[in-house]
Amino acid sequence: MIIPVILSGGSGSRLWPLSRALYPKQLLPLCGENTMLQDTALRLKELPDVGPLYCVCNESHRFLVAEQLRETGVEMGGIILEPSGRNTAPAAAVAALLVQQQHPGAVMLILPADHVIPDTQAFAAAVAAGLPVAGEGGMVTFGIVPTAPETGYGYIKASREGSSGGEALPVLRFVEKPDRKTAEGYLASGGYFWNSGIFLFSVRTLIDELVRYAPAILHACREAIAGAARDLDFLRLDPESFRASPSDSIDYALMEKTDRAFVVPLDAGWSDVGAWSALWNFHARDGQGNVKRGDVLLHDVTNSYVHASSRLVAAIGLESHIIVETADAVLVASQDRVQDVKLLVEELNRRE
Ligand code: GDD
Ligand code: MG
Repeated sequence: MIIPVILSGGSGSRLWPLSRALYPKQLLPLCGENTMLQDTALRLKELPDVGPLYCVCNESHRFLVAEQLRETGVEMGGIILEPSGRNTAPAAAVAALLVQQQHPGAVMLILPADHVIPDTQAFAAAVAAGLPVAGEGGMVTFGIVPTAPETGYGYIKASREGSSGGEALPVLRFVEKPDRKTAEGYLASGGYFWNSGIFLFSVRTLIDELVRYAPAILHACREAIAGAARDLDFLRLDPESFRASPSDSIDYALMEKTDRAFVVPLDAGWSDVGAWSALWNFHARDGQGNVKRGDVLLHDVTNSYVHASSRLVAAIGLESHIIVETADAVLVASQDRVQDVKLLVEELNRRE
């Protein structure tokens, strides 16, 4: 049985001003009618033999997360509340320890809450392809053919070539967030995938690898569950124990170190909607290359993304820009600087 676990702890700061600490991007309908969290849950309906869904999120998002997931009608296993994020390795660890109590033989599918995957069939085929290997102790990743030397992704070197949704390929090397030069080298040499951030492994394997490579995380997470409190439908981790966990990602803590990694190539239109330019790419563009959302009026504007939330937004004579208007903040940026939005948010946080 596959037990899906959605990680919904990120703040999505590069999508400010729509994405806010109390309303992060995965809880917004940025790519259609549903929120990205809801699409992540609904996508599970395409998979075979799926058990109840678990979600790990920050306690401040609990009611939004619960309500949004209830609306999808997907069967729930539980919502685990973190007092504050310790990155993805502790989040996956607490999920594994809980799932182990109910479904010790299960394979867990770890899903980031904030990705778009338009081709659900291709996604389902890739998960199905990874399942036997995960059942036998493999740490399965899903690899995207890279298109640019992005430094915000993990890079996976597969042992041989493969096709989308085909066989799970043994991994020779996993490198999380290499510097620009290294990423350029990987692209030039070929045979590398981007890590999609979706993982498939058995509960047993994940716990074994945590014992081996991240015992302090596992220990803190065991304590956080031992001291956890039930609160309505939520499981509130013991704050002190959980905060004592080292903060680390699955990628650095486990994937770079394990010798059991596999990759299933995934060609499904995947995007992690990291920055505004990704939304410009995702939505259909008009003849001038613009994406207009809301009440927008443009004249001589090309290749731009303009999002009006609460009033008319008009622009003249711009090329490759991002404009995002909300009730209390307006962002204007050039397309090639969208990664820097997170610097603005850091600056804002220092101000508050
Ligand atoms: N519950 C919980 N708690 N979830 C978290 C936490 C946390 O502390 N931190 C992050 N998440 C969630 C985010 O909401 C997101 O859905 C997912 O886990 C991945 O976290 P990111 O912070 O977005 O990771 P990243 O983008 O830097 O890198 C990961 O994803 C890339 C692809 O998008 C890595 O797996 C890379 O290797 C990968 O290429
Ligand atoms: Mg991300």
